Amino acid sequence: MPDTFLIISIGTVLFILLAIFITFMTLAYQRKRLQHQDEVTGLVEAYQKEILKTQLEMQEQTFLAISQEIHDNVGQVLSLVRLNMSTMNVAENTILQQKVNTSKELLDQAIQDLRNLSKILNSKYVSQQSLSDLLKFQLGLIQRTGAVETGIEVHGEVRTLDSEKKLIIYRIAQEALSNIIKHADANSIKAKLTYMADRLSLSITDDGKGFIASSTSPGEVLAQGTGIHNMYYRAKLIGATLHVESKPGLGSLVLLELPFN
Ligand SMILES: Nc1ncnc2c1ncn2[C@@H]1O[C@H](COP(=O)(O)OP(=O)(O)OP(=O)(O)O)[C@@H](O)[C@H]1O
Ligand SMILES: [Mg+2]
Repeated sequence: MPDTFLIISIGTVLFILLAIFITFMTLAYQRKRLQHQDEVTGLVEAYQKEILKTQLEMQEQTFLAISQEIHDNVGQVLSLVRLNMSTMNVAENTILQQKVNTSKELLDQAIQDLRNLSKILNSKYVSQQSLSDLLKFQLGLIQRTGAVETGIEVHGEVRTLDSEKKLIIYRIAQEALSNIIKHADANSIKAKLTYMADRLSLSITDDGKGFIASSTSPGEVLAQGTGIHNMYYRAKLIGATLHVESKPGLGSLVLLELPFN
């Protein structure tokens, strides 16, 4: 009898140990699987980030090349044409003089527009300016078209930003503004830059016709274009968050928040 009791006891202990062992192995396997999944997700994210970074670098290099081309070639040629025109002696012919004067004004406008374009494309120029000055410059260009009112408010204690982050925020703002000009049919654009203790926030709002923003969730490429999609990825690249809110008839809001590390 004691033998049977001993065998049952040992059997029970062995059974419990086996159950513990199986549970432990299952948990360990699940943990390893989750760890592996995390690693794969991390690798895919890092790979996508790297691709985007390369694309953005290439884009910036192209912008820079175009900017230099405008400045060094097209701009100079137009300045020479302007110089030639100012030496034309057309004082006796009023109609001709009027035409030459109008052409000079148009040339001045074209030279100025090209200079502005050259500046906003040049990442070196961008890195030398403060974010609020860049936004004021960009909004000023829009304001001068006379088609829409623009305004900017800056709140909080201004902090110097890392050049790369500033450039990316500026390119996001440029896309938001260019979307308003292209699609919104707005009367007014308001930008608000707020420096808080732990983060920076930039909001750009318009009172235009709006759109269904729910279809522009992060990572989703729209049939119409890639602008908003790129805005989300650019924000992610610098550790910022982006919200695009809009409803048909109710204007739109683009809000970017960058935590300070
Ligand atoms: N501020 C806005 N007001 C009204 N509609 C907008 C606004 N911003 C975006 N949209 C709508 O969202 C769509 C997607 O914008 P997105 O910037 O991704 O592409 P796009 O501007 O059409 O093209 P791309 O930016 O590639 O040149 C636009 O085609 C437009 O219909
Ligand atoms: Mg766009």
